[in-house]
Amino acid sequence: MCGDCYGASAGGAAEARAAGAGGRRKRGCVGTALALVALAAAAAVAVLEGTAGGVSYVGDGWLHECAKWDADGGACSWKEKEEERVVLADPDVAVRVALGLTVDAPRGRLLIVYAYRIPRFGYSAVAAYELTSWCRLFLTRLDGPGDSTLADDVVVDDEGNAYVTDAKGNKIWKVSPEGEPLSVIKNATFSQRPGWINNLVGLNGIVYHPSGYLLVIHTSGGDLFKVDPKTRSVRVVEVKGSLKAGDGLALLSPARLWSPPAW
Ligand SMILES: *[C@@H]1O[C@H](CO)[C@@H](O)[C@H](O)[C@H]1NC(C)=O
Repeated sequence: MCGDCYGASAGGAAEARAAGAGGRRKRGCVGTALALVALAAAAAVAVLEGTAGGVSYVGDGWLHECAKWDADGGACSWKEKEEERVVLADPDVAVRVALGLTVDAPRGRLLIVYAYRIPRFGYSAVAAYELTSWCRLFLTRLDGPGDSTLADDVVVDDEGNAYVTDAKGNKIWKVSPEGEPLSVIKNATFSQRPGWINNLVGLNGIVYHPSGYLLVIHTSGGDLFKVDPKTRSVRVVEVKGSLKAGDGLALLSPARLWSPPAW
């Protein structure tokens, strides 16, 4: 099932198709660095970790809220000049900003979280697009009427269920591979520290560990949690040093977790 397609015309889907058909660039190179423009701001640096090793680049005057490595593009060389272009523009989320994103490689999809620009907290959604065509598979609204939420980051499990963090409401939405909202993981354990200063930005970066659990960070509190998506049990993970201001999370290996600070 495939909905409308939103490949951006300027060097977007058309170019991806040309490349797929043996164009100038090898298939797989297109969309290697999936960095979405989120908020207008000064140039930001995104660091991508892939099979070719770490790569860093500076964008052109936009803040990249999130960048993920497309393993399929790992075969492509970064020795050429790094290139950045818009590949996807979904009109149904105009005025919103794109926040977290994740490559669901087994299903050939890209999942993106959308919300209003802070300080508006009245829209949270997650969408999935086919990586080859940029056709939208679903766009699922997550917040209810009157809710104050900020969908922030997303990850998928082995079965393709998506988990989206709510940085305002300290919870995790679970969405089926088809985009149906399934449940909400809420737990008092997510609120470790009282006071607004420790709760300005709540649950943020999230990863799915190959052993079947989620790791999620609370940005302002600096706490890391282990969540069992089946039983919904939540426990604090003890870490050496401070994770305060930790933003996104990336598993470099089953035993190495990486968290760059948000500020
Ligand atoms: C929260 O997590 C704790 C610890 O794992 C568990 O005992 C409790 O049932 C959970 N609460 C909810 C509402 O799921």
